[in-house]
Amino acid sequence: MISFVWAEDKNHIIGVDGHLPWKLPNDMKRFKDVTTGHPIVMGRKTFESFPNGPLPNRLNIVISRNSNYQVPKSVVLITDKAELTEHVSADEEIMVIGGEGIFRLFQNDVDRLYLTKIDHEFVGDTKMVEIDYSKFDLVEKKEGIVDDKNIYPYTFETYQKI
Ligand SMILES: NC(=O)c1ccc[n+]([C@@H]2O[C@H](COP(=O)([O-])OP(=O)(O)OC[C@H]3O[C@@H](n4cnc5c(N)ncnc54)[C@H](OP(=O)(O)O)[C@@H]3O)[C@@H](O)[C@H]2O)c1
Repeated sequence: MISFVWAEDKNHIIGVDGHLPWKLPNDMKRFKDVTTGHPIVMGRKTFESFPNGPLPNRLNIVISRNSNYQVPKSVVLITDKAELTEHVSADEEIMVIGGEGIFRLFQNDVDRLYLTKIDHEFVGDTKMVEIDYSKFDLVEKKEGIVDDKNIYPYTFETYQKI
């Protein structure tokens, strides 16, 4: 099963200058909770945006068109989504975590959406791909806690393909 995990602002912005446009530690925690124990699939640029290298306790799978792209030993490099089946088993929930090009690549395969909606407008250069929500049921919705470390209103939503 393929799942998407992402956070977007009011205008579907997801990134700026190679990083996230916001600081929202509670969303980082949700991301960790949702993805830990599952393979995560990401574009080369998203991988390079991690300040401390590969994310622990998850198989990190990076997609690049450059088959010579150097990744640490624990990380799997693929150059085509067809190679994914060599590294994951059919019953696993595969977490596609972006960016834009990688969401586009899996747009027709996705079964579940883990979305953080941030109720704020940010300056950005990367947008989420269009999702046809009429093909999904909202199965969970939770208001995020706003505090001095998480200053923007946000909602965690989970959708399942009908
Ligand atoms: N808000 C969120 O939830 C979220 C999630 C993820 C990322 N982001 C943000 O989004 C931005 C990065 O996203 P992005 O869209 O610019 O880059 P990206 O999708 O992370 O990476 C793009 C790279 O992936 C490789 N790639 C893309 N399509 C491919 C294909 N069909 N086959 C093989 N390789 C392919 C290419 O690597 P090569 O150039 O090496 O060939 C391409 O340059 C950052 O600002 C990041 O912080 C936000």
